[in-house]
Amino acid sequence: KVGEDENMAQMKDAIGHFTGAIESPKAFKAEMKLFLRLFSSYTAQRIERRILDWDKIQATTPNQVIKYEDLPASGNVKNLLKLAVLKFNGGLGTSMGLTGAKSALEVKDGLTFLDIIIQQMKDLNEQNAVDVPLLLMTSFHTHDDTIRVVRKHAGERQRITTFNQSRFPRVYKDTLLPCPQSVDDDKEKWYPPGHGDVYNALVHTGLLDQLIAQGKEYLFVSNSDNLGATVDDRILQHMVESKAEFIMEVTDKTRADIQGGTLINYDGHIRLLEITQVPSEHVEDFQSARRFKVFNTNNLWINIKSLKRVMNHAGMGLDLITKEKVASDGHTVIQLETAAGSAMRHFNSAHGVHVPRSRFLPVKTCSDLLLLKSDLFSLQNARLVLSAERMFATTPVIKLGEHYRNVAEFQERFKYIPDMIDLDHLTVTGDVHFGRNVTLRGTVIISAGEGHRIDVPPGCTLENRLLSGDLKL
Ligand code: UTP
Repeated sequence: KVGEDENMAQMKDAIGHFTGAIESPKAFKAEMKLFLRLFSSYTAQRIERRILDWDKIQATTPNQVIKYEDLPASGNVKNLLKLAVLKFNGGLGTSMGLTGAKSALEVKDGLTFLDIIIQQMKDLNEQNAVDVPLLLMTSFHTHDDTIRVVRKHAGERQRITTFNQSRFPRVYKDTLLPCPQSVDDDKEKWYPPGHGDVYNALVHTGLLDQLIAQGKEYLFVSNSDNLGATVDDRILQHMVESKAEFIMEVTDKTRADIQGGTLINYDGHIRLLEITQVPSEHVEDFQSARRFKVFNTNNLWINIKSLKRVMNHAGMGLDLITKEKVASDGHTVIQLETAAGSAMRHFNSAHGVHVPRSRFLPVKTCSDLLLLKSDLFSLQNARLVLSAERMFATTPVIKLGEHYRNVAEFQERFKYIPDMIDLDHLTVTGDVHFGRNVTLRGTVIISAGEGHRIDVPPGCTLENRLLSGDLKL
């Protein structure tokens, strides 16, 4: 284990020599302690990687993943008095080329994700005459954008608390040394270490104790880019009745959901299986929907006192996720992260609830954003509802090429969102610009070749059409 210790000593030394002034040295020290803990499991895993025994994996039993339809038909309003809602809002949104908060993007009717979330909370509170607080976990990347949107709602009755998650140093893959040299070094040299950071952030900010002091017992957490994750009184009632300390909402897996973890029965115990724990020869099996039919939506219900117990006892040990990126200077860097769902194993009676897909409407790519922006969805009482005019309850398959990876480029080309009620499949590649009032039906494929541009003229209808080249319609 010499290598491991050497790497650790080197890392500690480098961090100890960071220059620059920091606002709160105490908080920084605590943050680096958490980082070093992750770094130590990383160096240990490089020597001995812990992987599950594939043959011991079995399907979950009906008690381990309960069907949403089998939950109590409605919930007691009093449960809401003990509830707090938290949204993960610290991610970089790199898959959409973002540098700020995804939740500050406009998604529908001139409203951002955050505006809609706040409206959902206000509706819940007004309809039930309660005062469920909203907590927003931000990071150094998303804080300013978040505050800008939250400020617009300052005069309203919703209680909103924002708090910052940690900022960890990226690490050069070859030397295992930190990228930043000083505490105030370039933003790009740091990263927010995944939503699993929420548990430590709640403790460090004092929010966990505040929630307990306010008599809160249940915490509903979810991704801020999932507008389907509204408070559900049936799941809350089930949580109260079952005394489960942790509930994970899972939903049917489609071919698009290859990344999310799944629930398994391992040695008779329920467990979250993440891709990082899968032996390489079984990755395809893990990603297919044939054997692992459901996956984690990251809508989690947590008993607050139990969380306090876990944090006080041994802290929240979470599985390490290692992400590799290429920094703008061309160096390969690693980010050590954790995911909130992997906390499940620390809680008693933890189990899954198999929810309808409508509770999982994530926006991970511009194709997802296009779907939500289109006439397929409308906002009704701040909830996204699939149009009744759609013949089938499924959404079209949308594939946008490289030119639409980044939000700014997407917005430039989709200045107007086509009507898609009768669309089954859309593929767009190359430089394609959509005019006003375009209707797409059936299967439409538009492909502008390298150096060409296609302008889809205003008012036209494309039904089962293939367009390619530099066509002028
Ligand atoms: P994802 O892991 O899907 O990542 O986050 P992302 O940030 O949306 O997108 P990519 O992978 O960078 O493209 C799920 C939710 O967790 C939050 C995100 O803001 C999102 O709501 N998150 C993610 C955090 O709060 N902190 C993090 O460190 C990472």
